[in-house]
Amino acid sequence: MTNIDQPRAPFALPALPYDRSALAPCISAETIDYHYGRHLQTYVNNLNGLVAGGEFADASIEQIVKRAPAGPVFNNAAQVWNHTLYFLQFSPPAKTRPTGALAGAMERDFGGFDAFCEQFTKSALGLFGSGWTWLVADGPGGRLSIENAPNAGNPLAVGKLPLMVIDVWEHAYYIDHRNARAASIEAFWKILNWEIAEKRF
Ligand code: FE2
Repeated sequence: MTNIDQPRAPFALPALPYDRSALAPCISAETIDYHYGRHLQTYVNNLNGLVAGGEFADASIEQIVKRAPAGPVFNNAAQVWNHTLYFLQFSPPAKTRPTGALAGAMERDFGGFDAFCEQFTKSALGLFGSGWTWLVADGPGGRLSIENAPNAGNPLAVGKLPLMVIDVWEHAYYIDHRNARAASIEAFWKILNWEIAEKRF
């Protein structure tokens, strides 16, 4: 169980099913220490503090993301949900190309996996400032699209099914790639395990 499956607060950091150095050099142990161990821990702590005793005290993170108005509760819940999917989708070993139904849907909706990667990279590079670039479906097995969301944006809030995501906040890549977002995206493709997105689809 991860924090995004937990029925209610207090939420905890999701356990990582890999060692902190397992993604190096694409994502270093030091980045895991800061990004997972400090940034994500802060969002978890903030969320627990914000929902205690309030209208979302008995809600799951997914329910909070879907129902909370714009503001601190939504921002922290969405950041916990987004980072949980982000870190778990790297569960080694990497599977660098999707197969099965997801591969077929990419052929249908983007003209193939390579064309998808090109469009996704362009979208992630073009996101101004902090945010997330998502691969989403209209629903299980549904039409695929690429969505940029600023800040804590999460497709659940607009009724889409999130399949895969890249964090383009600078905190995700500054230790390993400095200002080079393009290099961090190139590294991302090498460690992604497409099995996670296939199961979600
Ligand atoms: Fe992040």
